[in-house]
Amino acid sequence: MEYIVINGQNPLNGNVNISGAKNAAVAILPASIASGGVCEIDNLPQIEDVMSMISAMQSMGIICDFKDEHTLVVDARNITSHVLDEKLAKNMRASYYFMGALLGRYKQAEVPLPGGCDLGSRPIDYHLKGFAALGATCIQEHGVVKLYAEKLKGANIYLDCPSVGATINIMMAAVFAEGITLIENAAKEPHIVDTANFLNKLGAKIGGAGTATIRITGVPSLGGGEYTVLPDPIEAGTYMIAAAITGGDVTVENIIPKHMDSVTSKLKEMGCLVTEGDDWITVRGAKDLRSCEVKTAFYPGFPTDLQPQMATLLCKAQGTSTITENVFEQRFRYIGEIKRLGAQIKVEGRMAVTKGSCVFTGAEVSATDLRAGAALVIAGLCARGETVIGNVGHLDRGYERFEEKFRSLGADIKRIKRDD
Ligand code: EPZ
Repeated sequence: MEYIVINGQNPLNGNVNISGAKNAAVAILPASIASGGVCEIDNLPQIEDVMSMISAMQSMGIICDFKDEHTLVVDARNITSHVLDEKLAKNMRASYYFMGALLGRYKQAEVPLPGGCDLGSRPIDYHLKGFAALGATCIQEHGVVKLYAEKLKGANIYLDCPSVGATINIMMAAVFAEGITLIENAAKEPHIVDTANFLNKLGAKIGGAGTATIRITGVPSLGGGEYTVLPDPIEAGTYMIAAAITGGDVTVENIIPKHMDSVTSKLKEMGCLVTEGDDWITVRGAKDLRSCEVKTAFYPGFPTDLQPQMATLLCKAQGTSTITENVFEQRFRYIGEIKRLGAQIKVEGRMAVTKGSCVFTGAEVSATDLRAGAALVIAGLCARGETVIGNVGHLDRGYERFEEKFRSLGADIKRIKRDD
């Protein structure tokens, strides 16, 4: 078993390069199934979810070859199957994107229900309603979603909530649908724009991505093309919060500062000095962090994927703070582990309340999901003594070479193997 071992209280200082966005990469890769040519996708992060996605694609006969560490050449012209293997599907949540990609291109798909972080029920009813509106027959049996359509016709689809996955999945299914498809109350996250930009590069006709109404005009086919995945706002936010909690001075590079506005605003409210340029942000932590209220929301609100990391920072602030989780029904499972490190925080429904002024002390803890793992690393970085984090696989799903990156900023952090 692998563990991360951190000896805390080193302030983080220096520059860190942010990798390509996980949630854009795991959408753009299956979206390449729509291409009638060869695609070259650059700035892919070297993370487990990307490798799982590539294995799933290769299992369907899609040729995927790395040109260099972050650039993949994809050729889906001779795909041999529209059925996704159950084991591969369970590795991650994003396996649901094969539904829209295969339905769009081949008018059929057999995709097991997805895996991913345990954040509550996480249904996919909005996805299936969208596919049905386009003319697909959806059958769910034995944990597998089977989709079939004689043809797909454009439709007006209204999402009950701006679901990221449903927005992207329906967009992929609609690329070849006859006529116009409108997705209303669509999610606006940057990786939705990135996926739309990628498909448009191949010849799709998608307008309005990043707004609440996305308009897709069906086209007969798509060509090949090259695309560079956008930088990961969640990875960037994680390092910004780590700088704040260790009282350090860190510049996150190769980012789009606009995507970080909600995080920048909160760190400034807490007393951090935050400056930004064209493609970088510098965070200088404050000695006495001010308490504040954080409410997660769909983009451009405060991202739910930074909720655990921010809750950890708020534990260090002076006075009582609250963090409200408005996106997922159950995203406080990590609280038990953070309390083992000394956090004084309690959950009341969708809100966590922290007394603040916490002095974290190192202990043995275990990551319950990807972003919970990031929160434990952040707590360990400022804890007195040694913190040992188990279930490191969660972190490897979404953070490229994170212990190397943190070590380059001055953290005393390493990965060990233990028999147990
Ligand atoms: C995506 O998950 C991300 N995952 C999540 O990131 C992220 O937290 C989430 O969007 C919100 O930004 C990927 O992109 C692979 P949703 P997704 O559909 O698509 C409910 C990470 O750490 N809902 O926007 O599953 C759902 O239960 C991960 O990188 C339905 O009810 O999120 C949730 O409460 C964690 N029915 C809310 O909508 C549906 O059909 C938002 O979910 C779909 C969603």
